[in-house]
Amino acid sequence: MTLIPIIIDTDPGIDDALALVYALNAARLEVVGVTTVHGNVGIERTTRNALGLLEFARPGARVPVARGAAQPLLGAAESDAGFVHGIEGLGNTPVFTPRTAPHALPAWQFICERVAERPGEITLCAIGPLTNLAHALAHSPAVARQVAGVVIMGGALRVPGNITPHAEYNLWADPAAAAAVLAAPWPITLVGLDVTTQVICPPEYFRHIAEAAPRVGGFVAQLAEFYIDFYRRHAGLSGCQLHDPSALIALTHPALFTAESLPVAVNTHGERRGRIFQSAPQEAAGQGTKAQPDGSITVLTDVDADLVKEVFMLTLSAADQGRRGN
Ligand code: RIB
Ligand code: CA
Repeated sequence: MTLIPIIIDTDPGIDDALALVYALNAARLEVVGVTTVHGNVGIERTTRNALGLLEFARPGARVPVARGAAQPLLGAAESDAGFVHGIEGLGNTPVFTPRTAPHALPAWQFICERVAERPGEITLCAIGPLTNLAHALAHSPAVARQVAGVVIMGGALRVPGNITPHAEYNLWADPAAAAAVLAAPWPITLVGLDVTTQVICPPEYFRHIAEAAPRVGGFVAQLAEFYIDFYRRHAGLSGCQLHDPSALIALTHPALFTAESLPVAVNTHGERRGRIFQSAPQEAAGQGTKAQPDGSITVLTDVDADLVKEVFMLTLSAADQGRRGN
């Protein structure tokens, strides 16, 4: 089986942590590196959480973690989603004290250098605000031509947003970066709330994972506990939505998703900040934003949620054996 080499740009964050555990155990993925960004919690916590999680989930794997942006391109990091992910970012799990230090390079330079070393091979998986990817484009525009692709957990095209009625959190948290990233000439797959809100996992789902893999699965179930409680209290749901893991599964199992090729741009200011809309480049310019030169992005618009949950379950259930799942 040909491995898919990836760099995960992340703001762990509970669902980020679930996505990282999936990526480290997925048979089809080679995790080349992890880069951290501000978002669910501040950059010090997202970086500590990423380092600690990698040491816990794959001891000895030595996957590099490069620290990224503490602030969005414009303005200051406004939102600390402690009420969603816990003050420390990983629910009520014990706070990690990582033994390893972040990589010497900043995230955007790490991305550009690793991608340039393996042109056409590496897929960037962005599951937090897009600040680091925007810095990477500014640092080395060639990166847009050297990546194999960019998978982004972000946006809400035909469904309401989750941070405002118009916008999904990752694009809202740094709309200027989102506009630059969506307008760049790299192959983008957008995994938005249109599909991720359909993937809902109840407590018994995680109990099964914990029974199958007591060590890693037990940690995952503890993470999910806090996250499910948020969804129960704030959305009346019986489970948590697997936003970030769905983006990784869209890469390993694309057949489980319905995709449309659409011209998409993002509002960068005002009450619709972070909102994505179908738009040809000239219309986007009219709204003070930008769109891809060829005008089309692959937007995932539907999903077989049960099969996505099955893939996630099978992979994480094998996490303790170090077996490579799906
Ligand atoms: O809107 C969902 C996204 O925002 C996820 O990436 C979650 O981790 C938060 O960052
Ligand atoms: Ca995230």
